[in-house]
Amino acid sequence: MTDIATIYKLSLVALTCALQAYGTTCPVLECWFVQERSGRGGGVAAGMSQEKSLLFVRTDPDDTRTGSKAAPPTDIVPARIYQVTDPGASLCSTPLHPPEGSIRKPKCEINPFLPQPSTVQWAAPLTDSAHSPIYLQADWFSASLQGLDGQLRLSSVMRDPTATNKPSVVLSVYSRTASVHSRLGAPVVLDCGFWTEFSSPLSAVGFSVEWRYQFRGEGHLVLAYDGKSDRLAETAEEGAELDIAALHQTGNASLILQEAQVRHSGTYICTVYQPYLLAQVAIDLQITEPPSLSVSPPNPQVLFPGQFLTLQCEASGFAPLPVDLRWEFQGADGVVRPLGEGRMSGHRVGSDGTFTQSSWLEVGQAELDLGRGGEVTCVAVHSGGTRRARVALSVVGAMGPTVEDSMAMVAVALGLYGLIKVVSWTFSSIGSVGRVSECKKEK
Ligand SMILES: *[C@@H]1O[C@H](CO)[C@@H](O)[C@H](O)[C@H]1NC(C)=O
Repeated sequence: MTDIATIYKLSLVALTCALQAYGTTCPVLECWFVQERSGRGGGVAAGMSQEKSLLFVRTDPDDTRTGSKAAPPTDIVPARIYQVTDPGASLCSTPLHPPEGSIRKPKCEINPFLPQPSTVQWAAPLTDSAHSPIYLQADWFSASLQGLDGQLRLSSVMRDPTATNKPSVVLSVYSRTASVHSRLGAPVVLDCGFWTEFSSPLSAVGFSVEWRYQFRGEGHLVLAYDGKSDRLAETAEEGAELDIAALHQTGNASLILQEAQVRHSGTYICTVYQPYLLAQVAIDLQITEPPSLSVSPPNPQVLFPGQFLTLQCEASGFAPLPVDLRWEFQGADGVVRPLGEGRMSGHRVGSDGTFTQSSWLEVGQAELDLGRGGEVTCVAVHSGGTRRARVALSVVGAMGPTVEDSMAMVAVALGLYGLIKVVSWTFSSIGSVGRVSECKKEK
């Protein structure tokens, strides 16, 4: 396994280097250098300093093409200008290249980094031996970046053994999907990958991968893999997987959730450990499911002047909150008139975490002139999409009760079946067109 993995990594690196040699240019990154202010107490904000910094990136330390062309801006002190070598070329990804003259720049922050042994169960074995290698004696930095596409997240750990502002990347963790949307029940892939400098003594020991879930200050472990002993940690999470073969071969640490559920919405943190080092990226997952709509009582409805009818529109199975329910009326003249939101219920939560909410509308009141009738529509506006459900409504004797209507009203008391018969007869005899449409669930 390890041999194959090494060969794969070597060939990958060779390929990347070859690609780099053939014209791919790496960006000059503008970063904030953020560190704790030394010798000062006080709050967190007061204790941090922020300086402008410039990173000239190249994939080969002998490449002198970048870094010398333009004079660095005068507001950046020479001590904060770095010549970064990134053999894995993660820092050269397209979303980190702003177009020429663009004001928008990728977000970048660089911090001093302190290598230390990890205490988590699945990464602690990486630093079994108590003494730390000479390799750690260097200036260390970590950089975290967000691409212009809003989807690339990258975190790199850099080592500068000579303290000459010429660090080399030794570990990079990245995701190309910083924000993921999924429908309920669908399989979800949260992208995460890593690159390590295979020639470093740390790389030879191994790595570990951890996926944590975080939502509103609470969190839990989703999955953890100890690559040194090839073991997955015990977790309560079901239906979450890693492709272990791909992890070793290409550094693909993507998390696969077999079936998206509402409770999966939140932030996922992909952390890759090497001995004394770690880098992580965060990915937001939002499970969005539009509502199913139904209006009751069902189609078609007949109203007599002065009669009230309460329509209920139920939006069910949706996530997340909120849903905006409102009513519309379209009369024979074809004009759509808004009827407001009706009387809204509170929301209920189902066992699968989806929500149900209703709105009631009273029709037949004086302030709402339905004329001869038409179509009442319930509209649900939700982040997952807009849904509509309709009910056809006819008003009998809208021009004022006639003898026929009065008789029909008596018939109401005699039974619903008879009523509908009389009504449909009256209706067709007037010759107006009653539109009968189904209450539809649009997908
Ligand atoms: C990583 O693995 C996931 C899940 O198997 C897959 O969907 C994705 O395409 C892989 N990414 C790369 C870059 O190969």
